[in-house]
Amino acid sequence: MSSFPVIAIDGPTASGKGTVASLVADKLGFHYLDSGALYRLLALASEIQGIDVKNGPELGLLVPKLLILFKNNQITLNGEDVSEAIRTESIGLRASALAVHPAVRTALVGLQRSFLQAPGLVADGRDMASVIFPDAVLKVFLTATAPARAERRYKQLIAKGISAKLSDLLQDLQERDARDSRRGAAPLVIADGAKVLETSDLSIDQAVKIVLDWYQSIAA
Ligand code: DC
Repeated sequence: MSSFPVIAIDGPTASGKGTVASLVADKLGFHYLDSGALYRLLALASEIQGIDVKNGPELGLLVPKLLILFKNNQITLNGEDVSEAIRTESIGLRASALAVHPAVRTALVGLQRSFLQAPGLVADGRDMASVIFPDAVLKVFLTATAPARAERRYKQLIAKGISAKLSDLLQDLQERDARDSRRGAAPLVIADGAKVLETSDLSIDQAVKIVLDWYQSIAA
């Protein structure tokens, strides 16, 4: 693996890790990997092709056939803008369901590592520190309580004009937490050496500052 620095930010769904990770990347001028988006892209593509979410081998074979492009906050799949389509709750649940398969996880390793380019990378997901970038210079486990995360997701959806029910969202994310944490292949865990950042009572700016301070203290 190359020697460019990686900051790995793992955590449960709706913990705010995506927002924090992309802002940290902006501040440092680093590349940014939203690994969850790759699982979501596979969820969408396999749904369109009618592949059963339980069929790990076939899902794994679909990965190299996907033409994925991340550009200026836009994500295209086989030439089509799917930035919004991959963010629905149902695609999130499908992504969590197909992420249990070792064949899927293995098929995505190379693609995720290809994001590591000069001058460095901020990677967010579930297994960035434990599996994909075990040599990351900084490992952060970013979390918040389930009710705090459900409320954040509720506010995001309402702000986008999408109707939502707080109790359903809480149930969905607890279901996803349980599956992401209990699966045999690369479960969501606090990696050895990771620093835990509890953000229930922090603003985004505060969380970003803490991560940057941790990084500066290592890079200094
Ligand atoms: O971070 P997210 O909610 O966009 O991720 C969607 C699903 O993808 C998540 O429930 C589990 C899976 N995932 C994973 O297994 N490993 C990752 N590194 C990122 C996401």
